Amino acid sequence: MAAQLACMTSDLAPESAMAVELNAVDGSAVEVAIVRDGNGEWHALSDVCSHGAVSLADGEVEGCLIECWLHGSSFDLRTGLPTSPPASRPVPVYPVTIDGERVLVDID
Ligand code: FES
Repeated sequence: MAAQLACMTSDLAPESAMAVELNAVDGSAVEVAIVRDGNGEWHALSDVCSHGAVSLADGEVEGCLIECWLHGSSFDLRTGLPTSPPASRPVPVYPVTIDGERVLVDID
C-alpha cells in the first residue's frame, strides 16, 4: 500500500505528537504516533509503547525523543529504540513524506 495521509503540517507544532489510525495492507487498523521533534522534523512510529501498551503520543517530546507518560521510558524517534528503562524492546518506525502541507506515512 502506498503512503497514506496522516495529518496536515499545520496540525503539530515542534515537540508535539498526535495519534492517528492508519490501515495496513491486510485491512487491519494500525495506531501510529505522528511526531515533530525539536528541530521540526517529522517522525512516525507505533503509538503503542513496547512496555505497557499505552499511547506514546500522550507522552512528552523532547529533542529527538518521546517519553512514555506511564513509566518514563524514552524512545528515539529515528530508530524506535528505547533509551531508558523499563522498556527494552523497540517500537516500529515508519517512513514519513511531506507533500506540500500533507504528512504522508507508509506503514507497509
Ligand atoms: S508503559 Fe511505557 S514505559 Fe511502561
